[in-house]
Order: sequence, then structure tokens, then C-alpha cells
Amino acid sequence: MTELRRSLPPGPRLPALVQTLMWAAAPVRFGKSCLRRYGPLFTARILGFGDVVYVCAPDGIRRILRDDAGSFGAAAANEPIKFVVGRHSLLMSDGAQHTSRRKELMPPLHGDNVAAYVEVMVSIVEQEIRQWPAGHTVRLLDCFQRVTLEVMIRAVFGITDSSRLDRLRVLVPRLLDINPLIILLPAVRRQFGGFGPWARFQRLLREVDGIIYAEIADRRANPVDNGRDVLSILLARQQNDEELRDHLVTLLAVGQETTATQLAWFFERVLRAPGALDQVSGAGPKVLDAAIHEAIRTRPATLDVGRIATQPWTYDGWTFPAGTMFAVSLGLLHLSADLYPGPETYSIGRFFPAEPPSAHFLPFGGGTHRCLGASLAMVEMRTIIGAILRHVRLDLVRTAPEAVAPKGPMLVPRRGAEAVVTENRLLAGRA
Ligand code: HEM
Repeated sequence: MTELRRSLPPGPRLPALVQTLMWAAAPVRFGKSCLRRYGPLFTARILGFGDVVYVCAPDGIRRILRDDAGSFGAAAANEPIKFVVGRHSLLMSDGAQHTSRRKELMPPLHGDNVAAYVEVMVSIVEQEIRQWPAGHTVRLLDCFQRVTLEVMIRAVFGITDSSRLDRLRVLVPRLLDINPLIILLPAVRRQFGGFGPWARFQRLLREVDGIIYAEIADRRANPVDNGRDVLSILLARQQNDEELRDHLVTLLAVGQETTATQLAWFFERVLRAPGALDQVSGAGPKVLDAAIHEAIRTRPATLDVGRIATQPWTYDGWTFPAGTMFAVSLGLLHLSADLYPGPETYSIGRFFPAEPPSAHFLPFGGGTHRCLGASLAMVEMRTIIGAILRHVRLDLVRTAPEAVAPKGPMLVPRRGAEAVVTENRLLAGRA
């Protein structure tokens, strides 16, 4: 162990338990202080993971995610969530198997197909906005959780049965609010006579799976004509129900909360940056995208993606043995003061009219595992933000920025991005 430690880049010397507590309580602060002290390559000791090498510089990130991707496994790093997403999940594969699973999922998430979801997205977000009378304070994160879940189960999965939709609206938020101990400590995954977090989680998962399998069976029996939703498209090619289930649960696990959280941070940031709200209201798509990108840069929903070296890898004067765990820190890359002067300041001008070099900004990752839902996520965020800016005027409840709070794997605004509705033209128009 000491031998291995000496062969890894320097990092905090605190006991692993102390580092783990600091990391769990405030991952961004922990990461930024390591970055300042040790530079963009450092080693942290996190209980449950062991020595984790953080890579935060553009060249190291590009090599792991793209150029040398064959020397790294994503599946092994994602192992702790296998019991949720299933063994056929895209997240559980590398190499040729991963390429073939990606090919299967790509068409329904492709840009052209995603445009078909916009109409449903607009009606979903307008339905939510109708619940926001002027004078009310809204927790935008809760609202966006509802909206993105609805987009996922109605537009992406194409479910229309109202009793299934009602049940999923209750069950999915509970499922995604998974106790982090279950993920980090396999020892917690015990039944304890039907009680405890694991037994509760298993019951939830079984019920969600039951609904998904029932939907698959119905849709096989009665296919939707020209259905553009993911399930309709996959059903035409995929005969194995377990694989279909794993695809759908993977999309739920990686696509819903990330989008809801980024939307919440968008408003939390834009409402606090002088002039930003006026700049985005009525602006063209390029300015809106720049504002969305700047929100992701300054307040990422997650900080890094995991990889495990499958063979020795040499970088920056170090040779890392096979089995080394890496945190490819897109979040810390985006907060680097060398690449983004005054990195904490939210400024739409960083991304418009000139954009930063693509190697410096990777909101959706890069290389073989680049986010498959990036087009969908961008269309969804533009559509939802556009509808809100059109119909509603929001203002701050408090001027102080909201703290970054870990919630499961997400980094959310501590107060849920609170805002007060000062005008709702959708309701006024109806009156
Ligand atoms: C703002 C919202 C989102 C952000 C910031 C985001 C970010 C990311 C990132 C950084 C990765 C790379 C992970 C890695 O390299 O290991 C990823 C992967 C992935 N994302 Fe997203 N994502 C978002 C929304 C979505 C949505 C809406 C979907 C689909 C409904 C989605 C589906 C996926 C899938 C399937 C993968 C795995 C790809 C693979 O392993 O080949 N994401 N996402």
C-alpha cells in the first residue's frame, strides 16, 4: 500500500477518513483547494474507492477520454450503480460491446428525432408554470424535477397510461433519492429481515421494473404507429426485454436529475449576475446556449467521471499501474483560473460571441462515452428556459448565492433555487 502510494502524484496527507468527510460534505471546495495546492494532477484518498487520481488538465482529460480510451474502463468505475441500471446498461460496457449498445440507443436520441419531443415539452412546462401565481415563491429545483421526469416518461419513454404515469411520478423520485451509503458501502446491501435502506430500495426497484416490463409487454402487443419515442424505436430492433429495461432505467438514472439540476442552477446564476436576465430574455439561441454553458461551467451538476486503468498508463512523468482509479474532473477543468480568468464569475460573454477552445469546455464529456443525451438535454433546457422567460417574470428571494449542496450524486443549490414569481402572463392571459 505504501509502495503504491509513493508511486502516485501528491495530494492531501490527511487521514483517509478526514479526506472522505471533507469530500462528501463539500466536494467542490475540497477539489478546488487540492487543485490550488497540488496542481491539476493530485491523489485523494476516499473510503470506498481508495486512492483516486484526479486529472483536471485538458491534455490529460483528452487522453483518458479519447486518445487512450482503450486503456481505461468506464464499466468498472460504474460498478457501484450496476444494481440499479442493470448488467446490460451502456454504463456497464466498454469496447466493442459498448459500441454496439451505443449504436442501438443513438437513433432515438439523435438531434433530428429529439425535435419531435419539443411540443410535448412545451405543454409539460406550461402546465407547471400554471401552478405559479404571481407573488408565490417557487423552489425551481423541485419544479424542474417534476418537469424533467414528465419529459422522460411521457416524451422519451412514450408512456400514456395514466395509472402507470401516476405511480412513476411517486416512485422515480424516491428511487433516485437513493441513500449514498448503499452505493458506497456494499456491506449495507443486506435485507435485515425486510427492513432498512436496502430492503426499501429493492421494493421500489421491483415496483418500477414491474411498470416498465408491463409497458414493454403492452407496446409489443400494440405498437404505436410511427412512434418517435425511445421505447417505440428500440422495440422495433430489440427483442430482449431485460436489455430494454436496462436502457430505460439508465436514461432515467443519468438523464433526469442532471438536466433538472442544471436548469435550477441556470436560474440561480442568471438571477444573480447583473444584467444577465435581460440579456437572455428574448435573446437568440446562441446567447441562450452561451448562458446555459456558463451555468454548467460555474455550477456543474456533477464534478467528474470515473475511469479505471486496465493497463499501465504514462502521463506527466508518472506511470500509473493497471487498476488505478481516476476521477476525470470536468468540473475542476472548467474552474481553472488559467483557462477561465476569474473562474467564479458568471459571465455569458465567455461563450458568446467567441467560444473557448473545445478542449477547455467539455460539459458532456468526450470520446467514446460522451453524453448520448447531449442533444436532448440542450433542446430540453432551451425549451424549458424559453417558455419560462416568455411567460413569467422571476426575482430573487435572497441576494446571497445559494451554497452547493451534495444530494446523492448531484450538486444542487442548497435552497433548491428559490425565486419569487412577480408576473405570470400565462395565468393573466387566461383570467
Ligand atoms: C445537462 C444535462 C446533462 C449533462 C451535464 C450530462 C453529462 C454527461 C457526461 C459528462 C457524460 C459522460 C460520462 C462518462 O464519460 O463516463 C454523460 C454520459 C451519458 N449521458 Fe448525459 N448528461 C446530461 C443529460 C443527459 C440526458 C438528458 C440523457 C438521456 C436521456 C443522458 C444520457 C447519457 C448517457 C446514456 C450517457 C452514457 C454514455 C456512454 O457511456 O456511452 N444525459 N452525460
